[in-house]
Amino acid sequence: MAISAVKEANSLERYIDEIRSIWGDGKDPQLPFKVKSLMEKLFASTSPNDPWMAELIREAKPARELYRDPDYGFIQMGHVHKQGHGNLPHDHGPCWVVYGAYTGLTEITLYRRTDDGKEPGRARLEKKELHRLSPGIVYPYLRGDIHSTHATETPAVVFRFLSYDLEQVERHRYNLEKGTISRA
Ligand SMILES: [Fe+2]
Repeated sequence: MAISAVKEANSLERYIDEIRSIWGDGKDPQLPFKVKSLMEKLFASTSPNDPWMAELIREAKPARELYRDPDYGFIQMGHVHKQGHGNLPHDHGPCWVVYGAYTGLTEITLYRRTDDGKEPGRARLEKKELHRLSPGIVYPYLRGDIHSTHATETPAVVFRFLSYDLEQVERHRYNLEKGTISRA
């Protein structure tokens, strides 16, 4: 996206341009951490009154695709979560993800798998770490990281950067109580 003479790029467009400029072949192990830094910069340089952000907040949709890259396949999602919104432990298969909070408070729990993975359909998890995403806080989750999210202070405006379309990959959901694993 070139900056035109008549209209200056907004902070979201600048963020996407910066990610595109560092993407390369998409295999740099530092990429999730670079996107984390760029997302922190995006939040710091975006006012709730900037038209694109104001629209996201006003529409308050649980999920919105803000950008999908035609060349590299990465996707930037914007979410507005209500009180108690959450999901079960899951992974993103071969993909990585960067979660960031613009407003509210979202807790992300990370899990460690404690079984050997040899019994089909079974998986034992234990909680490993809790990340509290208050405004401006961003965390990358790497290939295979099992996590769940929970909105504790709302409205929670949450950004989720997907390294690739999750509909196209094999990934899993886990049931902590039942000790099961299934295809998502
Ligand atoms: Fe996730």
